[in-house]
Amino acid sequence: MITLEQITELIEHRRTIKPIDAGGEPNYLDKSIPQQTLEQLLENANWAPTHGLTEPWRFTIFQDDARGNLASKLSQTYTQHLLPADFSQAKHDKLIGYAKHTSAAIALGMQRHVGKIPVEEEVIAVACAVQNLHLAATAAQLGGFWSTSPIYDLPEMRDYFGFAGSEDRCLGIFYLGYPKNQWPTRKRTTPGDITKKTNWRN
Ligand SMILES: Cc1cc2nc3c(=O)[nH]c(=O)nc-3n(C[C@H](O)[C@H](O)[C@H](O)COP(=O)(O)O)c2cc1C
Repeated sequence: MITLEQITELIEHRRTIKPIDAGGEPNYLDKSIPQQTLEQLLENANWAPTHGLTEPWRFTIFQDDARGNLASKLSQTYTQHLLPADFSQAKHDKLIGYAKHTSAAIALGMQRHVGKIPVEEEVIAVACAVQNLHLAATAAQLGGFWSTSPIYDLPEMRDYFGFAGSEDRCLGIFYLGYPKNQWPTRKRTTPGDITKKTNWRN
């Protein structure tokens, strides 16, 4: 059995690492992820808690040449759906850069079970699955990044991803890759300060 110290170390070590930095430079090595590793990450995702055992998570994975296709689809959708006043070339280039410079992109789907489980609980279950995936990726020395954008959940993007049910949703794209640079550090409330967010009732 793993110890509390080991799981704490893994949880603290998990980091968001994006495929490109703010200047558009790749953050991931140009290296594919073995199929066996990807399947193991997905198996870990599948162990997330799920009310009613609906297992609402669905994944569509883009690798190799499919990444270019995803980048083109994102570019087309972003350009078509944003009013000219809202269009940001920088945002557009960032979304496209993520897809081009990732080792794998995983579209995160939520399959609705209407009448069985409230939608919030299905969204939460998918988030738990993504956290499992991200923690497992950390153990495989992979950086991960949960990217969200309203355009991912547009009907045409859902169709493209194969999340076809009328109430299904796309909750983001999860990018994965082996980091080029040093594993980043990030701050959190110090352990002592967590008490400020906690009510203790003894
Ligand atoms: C549901 C969800 C959506 C996120 N969407 C974005 C996003 O669209 N863009 C972004 O820069 N970071 C996004 N993040 C990642 C956060 O920026 C990141 O978790 C935060 O900076 C803390 O860094 P860490 O994950 O390394 O601890 C998202 C995280 C979550 C949980």
